[in-house]
Amino acid sequence: MKKFWDNSNGLGGAGAPAGGLAALSVGEPAYLKPVPASLSIGTVPISPATVLAPMAGVTDTVFRRFIRNLGGCGLIMTEFTSADGVLRKKDQKAKRYLHFYEDEHPISAQLFGSDPRVMAEAARLVEGLGFDLVDLNLGCPAKKVVKCNGGSGLLRDLPAIGKIFEAVRAAVKIPFTVKFRAGWNDEEIVCVELARMAESCGLAAVALHARTREMGYSGNARWEWIAAIKDAVKIPVIGNGDIRTPEDACAMVTQTGCDAVMIGRTAPSNPWILRQIQQYLWGVRCRGGAGSHARPSRAKLGCFQ
Ligand SMILES: Cc1cc2nc3c(=O)[nH]c(=O)nc-3n(C[C@H](O)[C@H](O)[C@H](O)COP(=O)(O)O)c2cc1C
Repeated sequence: MKKFWDNSNGLGGAGAPAGGLAALSVGEPAYLKPVPASLSIGTVPISPATVLAPMAGVTDTVFRRFIRNLGGCGLIMTEFTSADGVLRKKDQKAKRYLHFYEDEHPISAQLFGSDPRVMAEAARLVEGLGFDLVDLNLGCPAKKVVKCNGGSGLLRDLPAIGKIFEAVRAAVKIPFTVKFRAGWNDEEIVCVELARMAESCGLAAVALHARTREMGYSGNARWEWIAAIKDAVKIPVIGNGDIRTPEDACAMVTQTGCDAVMIGRTAPSNPWILRQIQQYLWGVRCRGGAGSHARPSRAKLGCFQ
């Protein structure tokens, strides 16, 4: 059964005009830059520079550890979790979302909410639980979240976002990041302004799902918005949207200069995608490409063989 968020065309990203290899138009370099071997988000080293996107109902501890054990994934994230919910003593379900095991490090907890004080307290709780990073969700398009000003609902109120940024930043020592969409719709694109605000408030990285709230999961991700953010800030930029193959991942890095790539919907249908990206990069290096990914010795290859 086709899900509402499935816009795959069966051709991989190479078939998508706005992203993927087909988007490399005349005049652009004919080579693909490799996905970086590593990046640091604040004090936390991430290697390789690949992130499993948070996905409600998908990225629970079982799926996250499955992906981590397959290899090639630098950072994993919890599904989005209500800040109000985790602070309510009786809300055991919300707390379950924040359960993780030692072998999941480095791991980021994603929170959503609109009250700066509640967000700050929930971030403190997340830090106390031992998470390496805390992330704010400004991308969820779901009506029930937007109605309470959470997720992408906040994209129409930058001053309110600023207050959350400041409150959470002051509350925790672990790196604080934000994942957002480009804006509410094509008339209200705020991603560059938002990324600048995140940087000036001391956030350690930003991740952009390069669609608007109105687009939902339709159309093609607009990678040019990732490039615009990368031009505007010095903190790491994580690019997200429509990566279906290792070539897509490299095409996104080539076209946007992003510091890391984030993979969402491809992972449940092809859990090997992150490992395939790493193996592709080893291949690039073996063929004398520009990749800085050192291929480990046979003994260290373990499950990759
Ligand atoms: C089933 C599902 C659940 C999602 N849940 C979340 C979530 O909890 N937090 C979030 O920031 N994004 C969520 N997303 C969005 C993804 O993280 C990602 O931004 C989006 O799928 C685009 O990336 P992709 O083209 O690689 O799938 C969800 C997406 C899907 C399909």
